[in-house]
Amino acid sequence: MNEPNNKGRDHFSSRFAVIAAVAGSAIGLGNIWRFPYVAGENGGGAFLIIYLLFVLAIGIPVMTSEFIIGRAGQKNPYGSFRKLAPGKPWYLIGLMGVAAAFMILAFYTTVSGWTLEYFYQTLTGSLAGKSDSELTMMFDDFLMGSFRPVIWFIVFMGFTAFIILSGVKKGIERYTKMLMPVLFLLLIALCIRSVTLDGAGEGLSFLFSPDFSKITPKVILEALGQAFFSLSIGMGTLITYGSYISKSEDLGFSALSVGIADTLVAVIAGVAIFPAVFALGGSPASGTGLVFIVLPGVFQKMPFGEIFQLLFFLLLSVAALTSTISVLEVIVAYLVEELSMTRKKATIAATLMVSVLGIVTVLSMGSLRSFLIFGKNIFGLLEFLTSNVMLPLGGLFIVIFIGWFFSPQLTKAELTNEGRLKAGYFPVYMFIVRFVAPLAIAMVFLYSLGIIRF
Ligand code: PFF
Repeated sequence: MNEPNNKGRDHFSSRFAVIAAVAGSAIGLGNIWRFPYVAGENGGGAFLIIYLLFVLAIGIPVMTSEFIIGRAGQKNPYGSFRKLAPGKPWYLIGLMGVAAAFMILAFYTTVSGWTLEYFYQTLTGSLAGKSDSELTMMFDDFLMGSFRPVIWFIVFMGFTAFIILSGVKKGIERYTKMLMPVLFLLLIALCIRSVTLDGAGEGLSFLFSPDFSKITPKVILEALGQAFFSLSIGMGTLITYGSYISKSEDLGFSALSVGIADTLVAVIAGVAIFPAVFALGGSPASGTGLVFIVLPGVFQKMPFGEIFQLLFFLLLSVAALTSTISVLEVIVAYLVEELSMTRKKATIAATLMVSVLGIVTVLSMGSLRSFLIFGKNIFGLLEFLTSNVMLPLGGLFIVIFIGWFFSPQLTKAELTNEGRLKAGYFPVYMFIVRFVAPLAIAMVFLYSLGIIRF
């Protein structure tokens, strides 16, 4: 183990810094780009209820568990497991997390690049006055053209690498503290605009009135995958951030606050998007293109729509950036601590490696579109494998580790800061990580694979 690297370990400097960084990771394209279309495709309100249940019963406990592992281990996910369970294969979960980080960055930064393109297009006014079919064609042409999406991908990776290069305090903390409040303000402004449109009610009732006939095994797996993806859990991102949380912070409180903030933002994004889509005649289930095709069409029809559109794509880029940095940090922390690289070398190496996979992913939406594996292009495959398979699987092992392997005394010591906090929820938390969360995750898996039936 590389103890020397541990000595100068950077830590977040305040409670606000912890929450800004972790919420920065959790709140992102998952909330604003993915949640609305996944909810739209999976029955709206009914999806929302299952989603909320998963966040509460599984998501927040998994997040807390990751914080415990990271803060007790003081290392990247691989190193933390090695330290807490020497000689046991638990470190494989950490390695799966590093692999998932590569895969997520590849498709996530692809979409982040699209947000820059749309920000730019809004600035130059080229989306103005376009009909819905023209907007669809523009989006398709943009993806097929391949060159621009690749450039935007590289630009976005560059921003991400720049922040990570500056370190935990001067990079991650500084930027998330600045950007997260901006994001909240922008989102609230959009939300107010959307619900005050004539005919917004239909969108609200789509989002909030549940139709339970829409619930299928696929919908349940999607809700679980979305909860994991949206909360950034199951792959060690929050083990890594947990290792930067100082010993005086309250882990349970931090997880609860971020869980609530993340869910609120997803719901607010839904409230900002669905009423506008319904009021101005779009379809709620428009897949990955929802915010890139339907929304510009919607913005056209609003007074001052251009300004709101500009704000929206700015918001999306900012939200994405505070998430991509958290994913890149997983790989960089691993390279620095396990392969003794300097931060600079590690950041450059990680960025280059991600970019290779990323460029292939960008092209899989364009010129390599017809190259399919299991009926999905590379982009779709990475998205499915990470959110619906690797993250829930990682989460399953993380709760089993804390529930059944790690010492309950040490868990309690982490949650109470060595007895200084009360953490009255401890028995409930233990019950969840031992029984509720593992059973629920395992059942969703088996159910969605058709192995068990009710
Ligand atoms: N939680 C982020 C979002 O909702 O956009 C995406 C994400 C970030 C997933 C970090 C996983 C991760 F480790």
